[in-house]
Amino acid sequence: MGRDGTDNGASFRTLPKAEVHVHLEGCFRPDTLENWAKQAGVPMPRPREQLFAFNSLADMLEFLDWACGLASTRERLAEMAYGFCQHLAADGTGYADLIINPTHWAAWRGRTRELIDALDAGFTAAAQDGLPPVGLCISLLRTQTAAESVELVEDLITWRHPRVVALSVDGNEATAGRTGPRFAEAYRRAADAGLRRTVHAGESSGPEGVRDAVELLGAERIDHGVRAIEDEGVVALLAERGIPLGVCPTSNLTLNLYPSIEAHPIEQLRKAGVKVSVNTDDPSLLLTNLPSEYELAATAFGWSDETLRDIARTSIDASFANADVKAHLKSALARWQS
Ligand code: ADE
Ligand code: ZN
Repeated sequence: MGRDGTDNGASFRTLPKAEVHVHLEGCFRPDTLENWAKQAGVPMPRPREQLFAFNSLADMLEFLDWACGLASTRERLAEMAYGFCQHLAADGTGYADLIINPTHWAAWRGRTRELIDALDAGFTAAAQDGLPPVGLCISLLRTQTAAESVELVEDLITWRHPRVVALSVDGNEATAGRTGPRFAEAYRRAADAGLRRTVHAGESSGPEGVRDAVELLGAERIDHGVRAIEDEGVVALLAERGIPLGVCPTSNLTLNLYPSIEAHPIEQLRKAGVKVSVNTDDPSLLLTNLPSEYELAATAFGWSDETLRDIARTSIDASFANADVKAHLKSALARWQS
């Protein structure tokens, strides 16, 4: 359902696509949270109708610590994972790289492996029921230390969990300052061990954050990255190296990066030769879904079928799906017509 409560984006459901920038922390339903809060005897931070009323990244991050804190059992996590796959199917999304940041999930502190296993049970059940596949991107928080980042990566390397495809970093760069150097060692070890690498940058940091993500962290993909537009050298770097951006239009509007979709730089970046895909970031919290995001941008920028096919192809190529999943999605895309 779109932001205004209408069924936006219906025509984009049939477009074969992947989603590469979406957080499990952004997938809570208000009624579920209200039930869990009641059962735990925890007060709601605001009335249910205003539960998702954010206007800054800091606000939203604080809220998701509260929400994730309620997901205290293995069953709740498995249900969330299964429900996520149902949403993918409903949106016509054939695969997702799903970000989860263990620091938000208070009940699972020190038990990241169990957290991953609980989610894996839900994804496995979903796949058995014919729902789309998911890979997990395990995320550092921008405010963590270098030692914590290396510890997480060493755990991921030891576990080699088949559900985990990548290392990620998210959170608020505006409060953390320049953190590229701090995480360089963790990202180097992840790369050496064959983990894929994605980095939030150019949302709460400017273009310098995007450059650091590429040059210091070896990012294969940038989550957001839109503020690269403020430095033509960084735009050229992304275009030359073919590093794709996982762009989230509604997120950037709601969290006040840009005043309107017309002012959003996705089209300028695309025209400058940067590979862009369209994503939701935190769909429930931002009251959006993937077809609505495509519709929002396609309508504002007058995207043709050919442009839409290019963008959907980028979403598939930029994903960390396996070769079979990618080939299947790309052959469906080649047959697609609006
Ligand atoms: N965690 C969830 N959503 C996020 C965003 N948009 N930026 C950084 N961290 C996040
Ligand atoms: Zn994000």
